[in-house]
Amino acid sequence: MTGGASGELFSEERSAEVVAASFAHTPDPRLRQVVTSLVRHLHAFVKDVELTEEEWAVGIDFLTRTGQTSSDTRQEFILLSDVLGVSMLVETINHRTGGTSTESTVLGPFHVVDSPPRQLGDDIALDGKGTPCLVSGRVTGPDGEPLAGATVDVWQTNEDGFYDVQQPGIQPPGNLRGLFTTDDAGRFWFRSVVPRFYPIPDDGPVGQLLAATGRHPNRPAHLHFIAAAPGHRPVTTHVFVADSPYLDSDAVFGVKESLVREVPEVDDPARAAEVGLANPFRALTFDLSLLREDHP
Ligand SMILES: [Fe+2]
Repeated sequence: MTGGASGELFSEERSAEVVAASFAHTPDPRLRQVVTSLVRHLHAFVKDVELTEEEWAVGIDFLTRTGQTSSDTRQEFILLSDVLGVSMLVETINHRTGGTSTESTVLGPFHVVDSPPRQLGDDIALDGKGTPCLVSGRVTGPDGEPLAGATVDVWQTNEDGFYDVQQPGIQPPGNLRGLFTTDDAGRFWFRSVVPRFYPIPDDGPVGQLLAATGRHPNRPAHLHFIAAAPGHRPVTTHVFVADSPYLDSDAVFGVKESLVREVPEVDDPARAAEVGLANPFRALTFDLSLLREDHP
């Protein structure tokens, strides 16, 4: 007898149970749980829509092309996971903070190079384009205690909505990226430009899926952060620009209310001179709170 561990033959009514039973002797209990649940949900999906053979072939072709579109520098399957909300769901399940630390969101596909170490106050807009913006904040522990020597890794798009790695030869390497270290009061600050909304890569199968379903590929303007400090859990997150389009329809569902900030214009010649920006300038303040490593 092959197939189901129980010896039961395949039938439409009990297809999920029969196939799930074939995995009953999987030695790793977690693998058994995952694959069994996957079979149950997959069979329920096929029965729910009564998938036709033509649709099944389209699905196989779509997944095949999704794999073929992926390379060392492009991950179409992650993009698929992103637009289906699976990346955010996995991220959210695995980083429940109970409101006691800065909320996390997706890493995204553009942290592919190490951010260059920079000094507090440096300008990360190496191409000098865009609307000048002072970015500042504090990194603290869960009780508000400042975390001196914390690292703050940031990366963002230019005003055209592209990361440096998407425009080699146009943007200088390391443009709009920086690795900063907080001062004794846990503070960080640097000069940049206001980021812009941008479309995720939409010239592959995932873009076709979005087009066929009437969805746009855009993400609202944001600045990526990874904050880390010894003895604390790092947080990977974004801060979103409050007046950006697409805040309520992020193609990858990354927006959380607690991560949206106003980026007001500051008209203060003295302050502008102090930080080395032309007056007026925009200002983005984003404080990050980290949980201790031993947080339950
Ligand atoms: Fe991004």
